[in-house]
Amino acid sequence: MLILGIETSCDDTGAAIFDSTHQKLLGHALFSQIAMHKRYGGVVPELASRTQLEKIDVVVAEALTNANIPLDAIDAVAVTNHPGLVGSLLVGICFGKGIAFAHKKKLIGVNHLEGHIFSAFLQADGSINQDLKFPFIAFSVSGGHTALYLVKGFGDYTVIGHTIDDAAGEAFDKISKVLGLGYPGGAILEKLASEVNFEDFFKYPRTKPLGDDFIGFSFSGLKTAVLYDLVNRGAYSMATGPIVEAITPELRQQVASSLLVCMGDIFEKRLKLALKRYPDVTAVTFVGGVACNKYLRQRLLKLCTNNKKQLVIAPPAFCVDNGAMIAFVGGYKAEQGKFDDFNLDIIRP
Ligand code: KG4
Ligand code: ZN
Repeated sequence: MLILGIETSCDDTGAAIFDSTHQKLLGHALFSQIAMHKRYGGVVPELASRTQLEKIDVVVAEALTNANIPLDAIDAVAVTNHPGLVGSLLVGICFGKGIAFAHKKKLIGVNHLEGHIFSAFLQADGSINQDLKFPFIAFSVSGGHTALYLVKGFGDYTVIGHTIDDAAGEAFDKISKVLGLGYPGGAILEKLASEVNFEDFFKYPRTKPLGDDFIGFSFSGLKTAVLYDLVNRGAYSMATGPIVEAITPELRQQVASSLLVCMGDIFEKRLKLALKRYPDVTAVTFVGGVACNKYLRQRLLKLCTNNKKQLVIAPPAFCVDNGAMIAFVGGYKAEQGKFDDFNLDIIRP
């Protein structure tokens, strides 16, 4: 079957065509709004959905062109229906339902987080990674979510840990803002940290895993610790914000570097626990926007190698939000006969 996947859960507008019979991604397209949201230091939901409304037909047409497939050849439309920003999700689902209804195609609602979990199967040339075997642990880290899953099969997964407050990417973005750096913060902080060789200057507090049965993360305390440390260094005022002249290039590098080492330690500790609890997994996957980070990849690779587990990471284009992962999930749902009717709606938080 040929599946058109549509993703509009946040600020990205993505579309892709997946051939579930031959297990191949035929084409994909993405419109990123980063340039627009940058000036506000984060995603402005109303702007995101309005822009998606303007771009969605262009992105879907581009994905079809890249795949060299006419719209009529599609068998089903798979669309993200949760979780995400309400306005953004509505754009995707209304457009997806419209296409499916008008062209008499089947409809499949896809959980965005399930998309990330299975994105590790996607490879740069469109083929599917046949070496990735179940069961595996998926570590999904982005600006909106940070969670560990035990994955037993296609569509068969359970949460074994997640953040109780901020997402890791969100912590990067907020700290980047405090330092007067751009949005999104992750890649900027990574570059600064690499300039001082990922040294741990300030030794920020490492949060504990929170429980025995559940592997919890918490990043809001880390964010506050960084903030108070900057206050103590005379670089931030709780009343007026960043003290620009005190935020020197060296201080930025040192904060970025200390933060990444701290994050690496936290990730390593949680993953170690997960591997201890589920020793029979064959692999670990690292997915979501934060998985673009080369330093964190290296940290996880070392841990996986020591534990004789394969580490699988999708190409950067499929780590961030994208239509390909939605088309892929749509593909196995279609093969499993799991279609939705036209009552399909977004799921509100
Ligand atoms: O998956 P994604 O595109 O969107 C969400 O679903 O959130 O992830 C975006 C997040 C942002 O918080 C961004 O700062 C982070 O991924 N990110 C990175 C890197 N590239 C993107 N974090 C750390 N290092 C990077 N190189
Ligand atoms: Zn996402």
